[in-house]
Amino acid sequence: MNSSVIKSSNGEHNLANYESSASEFDWSQVEKQFSWYNTGKVNIAYEAIDRHAESGNKDKIALYYSDAKRDEKYSYQEMKEASDKAGRVLQDIGVSKGDRVFIFMPRSPELYFALLGTLKLGAIAGPLFEAFMEGAVKDRLEDSGAKVLVTTPELVGRVPVDELPELQKLVLVGENIEEDEQKVDFLTRFQQASPSLDIEWVDREDGMILHYTSGSTGKPKGVLHVHNAMIQHYQTAKWVLDLKDEDVYWCTADPGWVTGTSYGIFAPWLAGVTNVIRGGRFSPDDWYQTLERYKVTVWYSAPTAFRMLMGAGDELLKKYDLSSLRHVLSVGEPLNPEVIRWGMDAMNHRIHDTWWMTETGAMLICNYPSMDIKPGSMGKPIPGVEAAIVDDEGKVLPPNSMGNLAIKKGWPSMMKTIWNRPEKFNSYFLGGDWYVSGDSAYMDEEGYFWFQGRIDDVIMTAGERVGPFEIESKLLEHPAVAEAGVIGKPDEVRGEIIKAFISLRDGYEENEELQEEIRSFVKKELAGHAAPREIEFRDSLPKTRSGKIMRRVLKAWELDLPTGDLSTMEK
Ligand code: WTA
Repeated sequence: MNSSVIKSSNGEHNLANYESSASEFDWSQVEKQFSWYNTGKVNIAYEAIDRHAESGNKDKIALYYSDAKRDEKYSYQEMKEASDKAGRVLQDIGVSKGDRVFIFMPRSPELYFALLGTLKLGAIAGPLFEAFMEGAVKDRLEDSGAKVLVTTPELVGRVPVDELPELQKLVLVGENIEEDEQKVDFLTRFQQASPSLDIEWVDREDGMILHYTSGSTGKPKGVLHVHNAMIQHYQTAKWVLDLKDEDVYWCTADPGWVTGTSYGIFAPWLAGVTNVIRGGRFSPDDWYQTLERYKVTVWYSAPTAFRMLMGAGDELLKKYDLSSLRHVLSVGEPLNPEVIRWGMDAMNHRIHDTWWMTETGAMLICNYPSMDIKPGSMGKPIPGVEAAIVDDEGKVLPPNSMGNLAIKKGWPSMMKTIWNRPEKFNSYFLGGDWYVSGDSAYMDEEGYFWFQGRIDDVIMTAGERVGPFEIESKLLEHPAVAEAGVIGKPDEVRGEIIKAFISLRDGYEENEELQEEIRSFVKKELAGHAAPREIEFRDSLPKTRSGKIMRRVLKAWELDLPTGDLSTMEK
């Protein structure tokens, strides 16, 4: 256990006195922050953008966007008009309430306009990470029954339109698009569209965004969030991000992941601050430059990125003026104490860890600026959230016992359902009331939570959640592969890397060329980040009597640990 504590930072914080406010918090208080509290008209995109455009903030910068080619800024008024125009384009091709509109493109202002426009129509947005390849794209569009896909001419080749009968329109964001029955030229229509739109007012419990995420079994599941999630997006923006009117905020996550929407779009704009979005790939120089150039004050990133920055050396960091930074936060994987120490030494900032999941929609366990940090701990539940460690029957365990990290049902941003799979949704709950996260953890006597690992076999590589099943299924499609088992192998920089154990079909020989071929097969069909960095051939793989590959045994092999109970293993 870690006893070194880093004292809370001084200053005026939105949540100044956590201890006394923690136990009781009535979420319905937050409703007063929204215009629907008075008007009864609900839509998260209206609250995030239009509301500010209609107030004294219309000329305030809502978005600084830049990448290698573009360098732009948009006021709240301009964002309102651009999202109205995008909404018009989508409305004209038949998008209406409840339709699934998927967005598959690299970060660009148009991605954000299209996403907000989708929400303004009451349709459900489904952002897809640009690195997905054909198989991954198809699974998600098929399961969700997407009607429209917004994408680019560069990526549209990865969309197997013939195999997706429900997909009616491809909206292409690019130059010189020729329209046909299916293809729609976004930019031309966008330029001609009227900058006003009748917003579709929805119920707070209506679908808003669909994020596909991986579990340990089965295909990726569609986690559906509803407009009501705005309550928690807004309140955690205040409490945890500590956002204030004058802040310039940067969340480094792509909207293909939940962090890039809940905290890359909704939280900052609901709070009405200036949001920075930087396109392109990670590079330490580029990131430091971005912080310096925009005078970012609040920065939300991930352990893998911090570790890479740490690896790039402090000399590089010293070249930049990062004096604007006030508050730094992290999410997605365990934040090593070593990285927190680096943050203190190199940047003079405590990095504040936050814990939550795609399914939870927003932050649940956090370190606030006003709280003492115990390096290695994820922090404490936010006010209005009850977290506990429970056993497999749902019984709450005393402090310092390892068990299932669970949250009492009833926080505002909880997922509504798993798309098409209500039984999967139900399987998250123990004893009716406890949402079981799939993480194991313990809580110390002071109520701090300490992450121990995943209970299932989900892999966290560079902050991305990858399901072993999806990769194993893909590997089995390769003609040389007879059996495949995939695990996460601990890695200093990426948290975990993907390792595949494979037994080959007769007639195939183990060699490096075949390894490489199998790796690129996964890369081509699923996504670069899903391809196993390491492949090990074995004559056979450990299986249960029912034929399930025992990943637990593979992991034990890898880590030189005892293999544990093998009673269910096939002899
Ligand atoms: C892991 C990302 C340790 C955890 C928002 C969780 C973390 C999974 C932390 C969800 C943290 C997230 N410390 N582990 N602070 N935050 N995780 O759905 O295993 O992509 O269950 O959501 O990431 O990943 P997801």
